[in-house]
Amino acid sequence: MKILITGSSGQLGKTLIEDFKNIRNKNQFKIYTPSRKEFNLSSKSDELESFLDKLNPDWVINCAAYTEVDKAEEEQELAYQINSIGPKTISKALERNKGKMIQISTDYVFSGGKGSPYKPYDKLDPISIYGKTKAEGEDYVISKLKERSHIIRVSWLYSSYRKNFLLTMLKLHQVKGVNKETLKIVYDQISCPTSANSLSKFIWKIILSDKKLAPQIMHWSDAGVCSWYDFAFEIGNLALEKGIIKNKALLYPIRSSEYPTKAKRPNFSLLDCTESWDFFDGQIFHWKIALSKVLGNSRRLNIF
Ligand SMILES: NC(=O)c1ccc[n+]([C@@H]2O[C@H](COP(=O)([O-])OP(=O)(O)OC[C@H]3O[C@@H](n4cnc5c(N)ncnc54)[C@H](OP(=O)(O)O)[C@@H]3O)[C@@H](O)[C@H]2O)c1
Repeated sequence: MKILITGSSGQLGKTLIEDFKNIRNKNQFKIYTPSRKEFNLSSKSDELESFLDKLNPDWVINCAAYTEVDKAEEEQELAYQINSIGPKTISKALERNKGKMIQISTDYVFSGGKGSPYKPYDKLDPISIYGKTKAEGEDYVISKLKERSHIIRVSWLYSSYRKNFLLTMLKLHQVKGVNKETLKIVYDQISCPTSANSLSKFIWKIILSDKKLAPQIMHWSDAGVCSWYDFAFEIGNLALEKGIIKNKALLYPIRSSEYPTKAKRPNFSLLDCTESWDFFDGQIFHWKIALSKVLGNSRRLNIF
């Protein structure tokens, strides 16, 4: 079975590749991990389609995305090309070749106005360009591939790789903590962090249990609920306890209105993951435990 992982240099892509090494019967699978240069989602559609026709993968896990939420407000065309047209082109080729696709999406396809956890089939109402382009990407994939497509929406993804809230906070705690400076962190945006490790295990489960059909639209995060402030607070506590940082900054909770950003973000985008957790049928970790596990692997943390 051939599996193509796009965005293989990103935090989720890297985690998937790392986890693949631990899969039993992995010799039945061959993974392909082209770089952006080899498979660029902003290239012409026929170039991408011909790459896919030649490879003819059984599965594509599309982790490649334009992920800079604020910058997308200015680079709308590029974000649209990568997050909407890219997945559309992949699904067009897979439709022809009878392949399956896992499209990674985001809680930012929702406005945050619902006031209770979002269910997979709730109406999409994004409030940012990033969210809009990801929502359109979802629509294209579903309409082309139907039951051979799986959309997984995740919230607040982090890992020990690349650029994310965890790594930013570790650095800020360490630097600002020297003189006990204060960090202002938003407390009125609520959702739940997702460790790339737990998400990767879920994705491999879907592919390995090919015969048991996973739902078409799924939500995934670790368990629990928190604000960015809570997340930053726990990062400081755990990292200090584990000796990853030597100093901890003081944290001050602020409203989103006191930290203006180019893109609007949902205030309450907690995802209802019950169906996915049932399908996973493995251990689901509270976000604090998942964070502790990532920090436990501190050798890999590249913060300074
Ligand atoms: N990060 C979050 O908080 C978050 C939250 C919810 C959902 N998600 C979704 O989760 C998925 C994985 O995100 P991530 O955090 O792992 O992303 P990431 O670390 O930002 O990595 C993005 C990946 O996409 C690649 N890429 C960017 N533009 C490309 C293009 N034009 N053609 C081909 N590849 C391109 C990057 O390649 P280079 O190395 O060459 O740049 C990189 O490998 C994405 O679908 C994202 O929308 C993320």
